[in-house]
Amino acid sequence: MEALSSTDKQFLRLLYYPGIPPEDIKESEIRDKAQRCLNRICKRLVGASTPAPSASAKAPTRRQKRSAEETLIEPPQNQQSSEQRDEKSIPSTAHAVTTSGPSSPALPATANDAPTRRRKRPTEDTLLDPPQKRPVGFDSAMKFHYDSHGRQVQTLKQRAKGPSAPLKKFHNKVKREMINRFCRQTGQQRDLKLFDIACGRGGDLFKWDSAGISYVRGVDLSPAEIKEAKRRFEQNKREGKHRWLNVDFEQSDHVGSSRLSGLAEQYDAVTIQFACHYFFKTEQMLRSCLSNVAAALRDGGYFFGCIPDGKAVLKTLNQKSVFENSMLRLERLWEGNYKAFGSSFIFKIRDTVTDGGQGSIEYLVFSSTFIHFAEEYGLEPVYDYSSTNLDHMFDPADRGKLFKHFAPKDYENRDLEVVSNINSAFCFRMNQAKNKHRDRKV
Ligand SMILES: C[S@@+](CC[C@H](N)C(=O)[O-])C[C@H]1O[C@@H](n2cnc3c(N)ncnc32)[C@H](O)[C@@H]1O
Repeated sequence: MEALSSTDKQFLRLLYYPGIPPEDIKESEIRDKAQRCLNRICKRLVGASTPAPSASAKAPTRRQKRSAEETLIEPPQNQQSSEQRDEKSIPSTAHAVTTSGPSSPALPATANDAPTRRRKRPTEDTLLDPPQKRPVGFDSAMKFHYDSHGRQVQTLKQRAKGPSAPLKKFHNKVKREMINRFCRQTGQQRDLKLFDIACGRGGDLFKWDSAGISYVRGVDLSPAEIKEAKRRFEQNKREGKHRWLNVDFEQSDHVGSSRLSGLAEQYDAVTIQFACHYFFKTEQMLRSCLSNVAAALRDGGYFFGCIPDGKAVLKTLNQKSVFENSMLRLERLWEGNYKAFGSSFIFKIRDTVTDGGQGSIEYLVFSSTFIHFAEEYGLEPVYDYSSTNLDHMFDPADRGKLFKHFAPKDYENRDLEVVSNINSAFCFRMNQAKNKHRDRKV
């Protein structure tokens, strides 16, 4: 068997190793290179080329073509995990590049390839015990997790003492400055409107208030979090703490499945804080979410938030299944190679909302995938925040990139820093003229 050439290795490195920005490479180039390179690899390994599409095969539909492109935006996977097998909406990758992993380039998978598994990994379904209480499906699992959190009441004093207090302080500071930068009003006029998707328990009420926002619509999957958000707002109002602010909090299961009512391009900004990655379970969920964002935003409005970066998760895992330190447990749940959608992992940060039970199940997000889909909805990346308040909080290496990784400078605990470094801020600006889905309902 002939060894791989240095070009092949270089290509595989580009495809499968984290840390090399795929956005720096043109999509068409990746596609061409992938085909050429795979042919060479296959020839060397088995003396055959990748099967050419048969003459009778139908031309790919637009959707299939797009799926193939997505697969090449981020590395594909030759095995589907159990939750992915359940997802009819996950783009098929069968016709795209298939290998078994970064360190073991293998033959293209065929239907007869029986994957060898040393240990059965936990999946979303096996993680939630006891079994009789196990919720069915992603949304129920989310509700289950966040509802348990919604029912816990922690005083400010308790929060300030916990081991994750410096992290919460820093992450709140990032959120506050993002709100101030992309949705702030000063002076006498008070008419700014914000739509907060996955608003949680109203932890940002005072940030909205001090940014001079007059109205916030907050939606969240968890009834308990929404109940707590309403309670907090009512209590603050009674205590005379919100001068300008009005809010409507509502529970909704539908952000990731259909268009919500009452959006009408009337919002100056839409935010999703530490939750957008939940919509990367499937392409359909992301599309539905982006469709709601675009339907809510006025032209020129901002869509911003904070999100764990998939590449940073991969880097922290360092090709292992589990990473653990005193504050964080990360566990890979996907099998084979990661994909643009549905590659789940456990994120458990001590003393935070993710700390209940086995931890929170999250999905890898790659900036290139995010940019690619957002573009269809008229959402253009904002690469430069031009804000002295914000810029120093991010890694300077992220200038000109969508994801700006958190770079806290004063944590005493290095283990906490690892957690913050996984997170990043993002921002898009709405250009309704480029929104290809403007008149559609979903
Ligand atoms: C880590 S919390 C963040 C809460 C809040 N944005 C913050 O920054 O404090 C994630 C939130 O996302 C919500 N969530 C998860 N999936 C969702 C979905 N499909 N639709 C709406 N909310 C969702 C959860 O219920 C939870 O409140």
